[in-house]
Amino acid sequence: MVAQEVQIAVEDAGHEAPIVMMEAFNADSLREGGIYLICSSTYGNGDVPDNAQALLQRLKDERPDLSNVTYGVIALGDMTYKATFCQGGMLFDSLFGELGASRAGPPLLHDANSGTLPEDVACEWAKTWLRQDLATMLEAA
Ligand SMILES: Cc1cc2nc3c(=O)[nH]c(=O)nc-3n(C[C@H](O)[C@H](O)[C@H](O)COP(=O)(O)O)c2cc1C
Repeated sequence: MVAQEVQIAVEDAGHEAPIVMMEAFNADSLREGGIYLICSSTYGNGDVPDNAQALLQRLKDERPDLSNVTYGVIALGDMTYKATFCQGGMLFDSLFGELGASRAGPPLLHDANSGTLPEDVACEWAKTWLRQDLATMLEAA
């Protein structure tokens, strides 16, 4: 749902934004570079959801060079889980960073306990991300 709202915001800004579910994502395509928005919630004890486990593990095992990848992070969590708040998204963030990818702007950390809807917050965040964070990074490149 969050990805769909973000997709609309990105398309409204004139860009293509296909959504790929993590379990269907071919990690090989990352080697070609590109711009990605990673959207992950957190389950278990600060872990990524089941459908993202294989992708995370494959990246950890194969350690592809992601120096041509620019990315942003939308992390969904709940402050009730204080010690592991939004850690699923942050696991992707730290791994992408280790593999040489460049993050545009700070991650969005959404708290499910905040009374706000993640799709609304993410949609607004994505507009600013495109206009400011990503634009600044692409200009500097
Ligand atoms: C079993 C379970 C474990 C969770 N563990 C965490 C956690 O460790 N850290 C966190 O920030 N949120 C945690 N959450 C909260 C979810 O990440 C949060 O509700 C998120 O918005 C769920 O998004 P989804 O419904 O799209 O999967 C957990 C939720 C459940 C049900």
